[in-house]
Amino acid sequence: MAKHPFEIMPWTKEHDPTNFTSDLASIKKYIQEQAHRDVSSYTSSVFVLTEMGELIIRGYYSLSSISIVFSELPIRVQKRLPKYPQASAILLGRLGVDKEFSLKIQKEQGFKPRFGELLLADAQMRCLRNCKDVGSALLAVDAETPSIEEQKSGAKDPLPFYSKYGFVSLSANPRRVIKTMRSIAEEFKQI
Ligand SMILES: CC(C)(COP(=O)(O)OP(=O)(O)OC[C@H]1O[C@@H](n2cnc3c(N)ncnc32)[C@H](O)[C@@H]1OP(=O)(O)O)[C@@H](O)C(=O)NCCC(=O)NCCS
Repeated sequence: MAKHPFEIMPWTKEHDPTNFTSDLASIKKYIQEQAHRDVSSYTSSVFVLTEMGELIIRGYYSLSSISIVFSELPIRVQKRLPKYPQASAILLGRLGVDKEFSLKIQKEQGFKPRFGELLLADAQMRCLRNCKDVGSALLAVDAETPSIEEQKSGAKDPLPFYSKYGFVSLSANPRRVIKTMRSIAEEFKQI
């Protein structure tokens, strides 16, 4: 990483998504066509990964507020939360890495830059910090499903990526995965 320092910051209209590449059309389309509307209407916040001091978007994630029906949470999560009908949550709506750029860095360095991991860690730490101002019991992700065509072109199901970092599925909707803010606090305190 020494040769290529990166930073993650709030999206601005000066950031450039023009050449963003992804195996998922929805991830490319969101940053190129939708992000600015979501940010300007305060619907979601978007955070972008760039090379230090640059404006070209190499990765991003979005955050917004939702609530989740308490009874739909896994029992072991229910046991760790107060019993309100709805649990407060932050939704990590989209997360994507510019595939071509990631491959380029991998070729130059000889190993993967792990941008997905970096973005997910940054999102978790950001949510934790924000919880000091507005509480949220959970971080949730709706894992996208690659289309058949996208799968044929090599797109991977992102669900196992989230499982790897401690997210668990809701029984009513296995594509929605959650992690308690308390688990995130415990995990990141150790770093
Ligand atoms: C999913 C995505 C964000 C992961 O980013 P990435 O930079 O490729 O992942 P990283 O290199 O940081 O991977 C970190 C670890 O997760 C694993 N991983 C990454 N994607 C994975 C997947 N889809 N399934 C299982 N494991 C995965 C890596 O193998 C690596 O594991 P290791 O610790 O054993 O080496 C990225 O591939 C992407 O943008 N995909 C297309 C869009 C998408 O699916 N976004 C999610 C929408 S909800």
